[in-house]
Amino acid sequence: MCGIMGYSGLRPPLPLLVSGLERLEYRGYDSSGVAFFDDFGALSVVRAVGKVGMLKDLVSDRVAQPGAAIGHIRWATHGGVTLENAHPHQSGPIVLVHNGIVENDQALRIHLRSCGIECLSETDSEVLSHLIRLEYEKDGVFPEAVRRALGHVEGSYALAILCQNDPADLVVVRNGPPLILGLGAGETFAASDIPAFLHFTRQVHPMDNGTIALIRHDEVRAGRLEQSLQDWTPPPSMTISWDPVFAEKGTYRHFMEKEIFEAPRAMMDTLSDRLSVSPVLPELDRLALGIPPVVAFVACGTSWHAGLFGRAFLEQAGIPAFVEIASEFRYRKLLLPKGSWVIGISQSGETADTIGAIEASRRAGFFTVGIANVPGSTLERECDLCLLTHAGPEIGVASTKAFQAQVSLLMMLSLALGEASPRPDLLDALLRAPHRLELFLESLSAESLDARVERLRQSRLVMFAGRGLDYPLALEGALKFKEITYRPADGYPGGELKHGPIALIEPGVTVVAPLVDRSLRAKEISNLREIRARGGYVLAIGPAIGKEGHEIWYDDRIGLPDDPPWSGVFQAAGVLQLLAYRVASALGNDVDQPRNLAKSVTVE
Ligand code: F6R
Repeated sequence: MCGIMGYSGLRPPLPLLVSGLERLEYRGYDSSGVAFFDDFGALSVVRAVGKVGMLKDLVSDRVAQPGAAIGHIRWATHGGVTLENAHPHQSGPIVLVHNGIVENDQALRIHLRSCGIECLSETDSEVLSHLIRLEYEKDGVFPEAVRRALGHVEGSYALAILCQNDPADLVVVRNGPPLILGLGAGETFAASDIPAFLHFTRQVHPMDNGTIALIRHDEVRAGRLEQSLQDWTPPPSMTISWDPVFAEKGTYRHFMEKEIFEAPRAMMDTLSDRLSVSPVLPELDRLALGIPPVVAFVACGTSWHAGLFGRAFLEQAGIPAFVEIASEFRYRKLLLPKGSWVIGISQSGETADTIGAIEASRRAGFFTVGIANVPGSTLERECDLCLLTHAGPEIGVASTKAFQAQVSLLMMLSLALGEASPRPDLLDALLRAPHRLELFLESLSAESLDARVERLRQSRLVMFAGRGLDYPLALEGALKFKEITYRPADGYPGGELKHGPIALIEPGVTVVAPLVDRSLRAKEISNLREIRARGGYVLAIGPAIGKEGHEIWYDDRIGLPDDPPWSGVFQAAGVLQLLAYRVASALGNDVDQPRNLAKSVTVE
């Protein structure tokens, strides 16, 4: 939620900031703004309501001198979407951008009022600029003023701050929301996510919670907030392998479309090195851990759906497992057997609820595992062990390729934890799955989906139903559909329909039914017959079953190859993603940045 960016270096910073903010736009798009030193050396602030494009127009004829600069895109929490509430916020010589929430904002406002300072905006962020200014006026030492001011602040913050009197200096702080430094030659970037600067450097330092850094071109000194400036030292760095091409749309209209077609590569990159003739998770082997008595998966949204697959795979491997929504789990009594593992699944690795659930599990003494896509993310650093998916940066707000990467990693985990010699049929299906998905997606022509897209667009209500492995697919299909088409949609276990939801069935309602789980197919088909008997329209997604036309239990079917379920789930997921994408595009919606959503949910 919200994205921040900072720069210090010798290039003119405005184009860098604007392109960086465009790449962070998935984090929020209510308003945006930049602060920079203009050609007279004065600290200038430009803000715009709406997407980064509005800001881009406003700064197109502005010149910024090389040095430090900051930028922000906002996902409104405190205060409406107005110019006053847009960042950066300025107080005298201090200008800052903030991602996070100041919890004692009201108390701080009262304190500021007693010092004769009235806030101009409704945001919690503005108070930070005044507090830092008051401290700066005491001794004129910019980084120390930031440190002292934050001593009065409760809450979470990632901050990038400039001072009129130190035009090359950028001070950044992390306490909660992510902040990653990009270390280049003669320049340093700071951003909420790596794609903002991936074109310039792959050398990164993910800042730790409770740390602060002073950046002047490529000189970086960092320390803990409790340490004074003279004790700060250059931070360590790591090289990330992400290809900058991942962060470009290329010939696709939207990132989401591109990322749907990148799923085979995301799976391949996640599995290679770890899978040859037998499943190998070197990360696990190194720790020589035993088999856990119980595994609890915790996650949100699409990652939670991946967790439902994880539960199914582990159960097949004979390991008891359950899956919980992170925001609920974190406040429950954790009555797990001793030695249990809690596995947090998250694309961003920054979802506040998932991290909260992992922290609670650690405090309760359980072994914690992260499955994260972003290297250096909080989840990776908070867990005892992290297994990275290698889907590359995912820019579209609706998760796609990261889901398939998570599910393939969970299959591998179940093979690695299961019996001594894993079932060769499952291993074989997993090995072939990325290529099978690639071939399948290539074979799906746009025209072949046109009529189905139109049917879904015209439907009064779209429901998704499935059993066994098809149930998480139904949930994921419904989530994708509702979040980008803005049409009501829900996913149900097929067997539950007759306990209530079947009352919704009438002509004009479409039920989308993934059918890759062979073990429950006959039961799924009888549930679908019940839908058709009541006038519902059934769109099946699955292989040809029995004699086509012999006994018709669907109105239309998108054909899948008759692959084993461990391959079929990826193909069905691809179809569900594409259907949602195509319907949303046909409706003219902003597919990559759907309303009210942000990619990385760093608030509770
Ligand atoms: C849906 C979607 C969200 C995320 C959820 C968790 O398309 O993208 O439901 O899956 O916000 O995000 P991560 O995986 O980053 O923890």
